[in-house]
Amino acid sequence: MANETITVINNATGERHELPLREGTLGPKAVDISSLYKEAGIFTYDPGFMSTASCNSAITYIDGEEGVLLYRGYPIEQLATKSSFLEVSYLLIYGDLPGDKALVGFEKMIMRHTMLNENLKDFLDGFHYDAHPMSMLVGVVGSLSAFYHDSLSVNDPRHREISAHRLIAKLPTIAAAAYKHSVGEPIMYPRNDLRYCANFLHMMFATPCEDYKPTLIGEKAMNLLFILHADHEQNASTSTVRLAGSSGANPFACIAAGIASLWGPAHGGANEAVLDMLLEIGSVENVQRYIEKAKDKDDPFRLMGFGHRVYKNYDPRAKIIREVCHQLLDELPEAANNPLFELAMKLEEIALNDAYFVERKLYPNVDFYSGIIYQALGFPRNMFTVMFAVARTVGWVAHWLEMMSDPNNRIGRPRQIYCGPAQRDYLPISKR
Ligand code: SDX
Repeated sequence: MANETITVINNATGERHELPLREGTLGPKAVDISSLYKEAGIFTYDPGFMSTASCNSAITYIDGEEGVLLYRGYPIEQLATKSSFLEVSYLLIYGDLPGDKALVGFEKMIMRHTMLNENLKDFLDGFHYDAHPMSMLVGVVGSLSAFYHDSLSVNDPRHREISAHRLIAKLPTIAAAAYKHSVGEPIMYPRNDLRYCANFLHMMFATPCEDYKPTLIGEKAMNLLFILHADHEQNASTSTVRLAGSSGANPFACIAAGIASLWGPAHGGANEAVLDMLLEIGSVENVQRYIEKAKDKDDPFRLMGFGHRVYKNYDPRAKIIREVCHQLLDELPEAANNPLFELAMKLEEIALNDAYFVERKLYPNVDFYSGIIYQALGFPRNMFTVMFAVARTVGWVAHWLEMMSDPNNRIGRPRQIYCGPAQRDYLPISKR
């Protein structure tokens, strides 16, 4: 592909510009427009970045047409059934699956950083009793740079690695502490003798009066959900982390920015919105009415958990989660015959046979079924996006590390098409 180019011709002036074509290991070629403004004095325009590659990355590959998702080349379907969340975390950060010694060392390192600075408890106590756990997560994660001054030199690879480990280790502890605050229960300290997901379940559901022994099925479901949510290329929140990090901001501030972006209902907030939607629909009899609402351009209602910017096929993660839903609900007696799961499957069946959704290639995405599993595991709806953030922290950290170790990294600074008023003079108020 060496020296392959695209010719841009300005029909008004007849000017021609040769732009180089770039190609990665997999996926579409990209025309390199970085010299276009300097050479031709014009910008490109791509709101929402529908056709724009923002960077080179070796972490995750998605094929939206084929429904393919690879983490460092490994298919998500294989990792979901054969790996653990910390092993996938190692893979995303360091680029290869760890050997036995490396994995044990990484697990020990992560589990050694699970505790929070004791003063953070006062910080959490300052939140209103009914604060949304996501608002606490954004605030507390952003404040971590106030506690960990010893690892904030973003140009020091070792500092970057320590901060990465701290974030992966502490997110579950902060998430569980936010939940405990929202239900008025005392915070549970992490237990470093437990595995990562079992420890998270322990911190969520144990109390000082009653221990909580995480079930194997619960730990397995958590591992799977965290693996599936760990990374997803240049989605809105990951791009937010990269843009924040490109200015040299500290990693805790960058991850807090990612959490803020993920919170939106068009992104990670969709899993909570799906459950709210299913509860609003209520029964199968109402499904068709809501499908019509979702199709009505004058109605702001959208089918939450449906559609995706990249996947124009079934989201491979949704397929895996749907299968686990069946198994889990069969194995959790208290969740068996979950009416919301029946309703979700009926909604999916009707939507996928409706021309509007078929023509626009709108399929269930990762958020459509995940909330049903979280609910079956005992998590309240306002914790669903927090769970997404705990898992996605690994992806955000991996992308931040990749960007910060790139010698060509520079501050991200998009331009615009200015549509405001041309220059005009100030008028005294008597003349306005
Ligand atoms: C995540 O990017 C990632 O990778 C994200 C994510 C990750 O792992 O990081 O995968 C996680 O965020 C998954 C998406 C969760 N969001 C939802 O489930 C919210 C509901 N979905 C929609 O808001 C929407 O589908 C988006 C935001 C996901 C994608 O929006 P796009 O790509 O901008 O699509 P669009 O708005 O241009 O829609 C194209 C058409 C439009 O109709 P027309 O104008 O062509 O007539 O499809 C329609 C839309 O109105 N449409 C929907 C719809 N989604 C799109 N109509 C009804 N219900 C929907 N859910």
